[in-house]
Amino acid sequence: MRTRTVLVTGGAGGIGRAVAAAFTAAGDTVVIADRDAPRVTETARALGVRGRVLDITDPDAIARELDAVQAELGPVEVLVNNAGLLTVHGSLLDLAGSDLDTILRTNVVGTFLMTQEVARRMIGAGVAGTVVNISSIGGRQPTPGMGGYESSKAAVDALTRWAAIELAAHGIRVNAVAPGPVLTEMLALGMPEGSPQRKAWEDRIPLRRLAAVDDVAAATVFLAGDGAAHITGTSLPVDGGQLLT
Ligand SMILES: NC(=O)c1ccc[n+]([C@@H]2O[C@H](COP(=O)([O-])OP(=O)(O)OC[C@H]3O[C@@H](n4cnc5c(N)ncnc54)[C@H](O)[C@@H]3O)[C@@H](O)[C@H]2O)c1
Repeated sequence: MRTRTVLVTGGAGGIGRAVAAAFTAAGDTVVIADRDAPRVTETARALGVRGRVLDITDPDAIARELDAVQAELGPVEVLVNNAGLLTVHGSLLDLAGSDLDTILRTNVVGTFLMTQEVARRMIGAGVAGTVVNISSIGGRQPTPGMGGYESSKAAVDALTRWAAIELAAHGIRVNAVAPGPVLTEMLALGMPEGSPQRKAWEDRIPLRRLAAVDDVAAATVFLAGDGAAHITGTSLPVDGGQLLT
């Protein structure tokens, strides 16, 4: 496959890092963008990719960083909207409205702003690119205490369909990957193997294991590739069958 310019938001995090590594292994030129400056430097160096410090909720910063990427590498051809907040939770009766604002601002508005700015540049440059959003099966299946986050991911699925139907005329495909719980380093620390919390999650999954970051990365590379040329507007579960239960 020809080398493409791939931008992975949240690329310094657990899943984003694996996604960036997978596109690099496929021969693409990868830029990670993340608001965590020290981890951007460390991850970019470790993977041999470019790194940009970017907060996806800041429209001016998005425009500035995309202009810089385009000046160096040409327009972004693959955008992976992976940056997200997934640690702010609370029950319906307890979650502060300001916390829900924070979740939605990053997961929904940030994903929207990135998609809008990248799509404008793709269209301006005549690039029939593609976008992959990292959603969650939580957008379709509730877990008590996680509804704020889950609402944001239901919105990401709707945003995926919205962008797909409007951008199809420009040849731009937009899809999502919807993982179940993913065994990132952070999750492994919080739920060590054999812990009751880990077992409770595994027991909900017909294939009896949490997703590996590489499971999510493989689905993302597939949806961004020629093998998915006729797929747009879908949200592909990578959940070991959890949505079947
Ligand atoms: N880990 C899971 O179990 C799981 C399951 C389903 C979906 N997801 C989704 O996968 C994506 C990645 O999750 P992860 O597990 O790797 O989490 P993570 O916390 O390791 O990584 C998220 C990254 O996003 C960055 N980020 C957060 N807000 C940002 C902002 N405003 N601007 C720029 N960067 C920002 C963080 O700095 C971090 O590096 C998220 O969208 C998450 O909702 C995760």
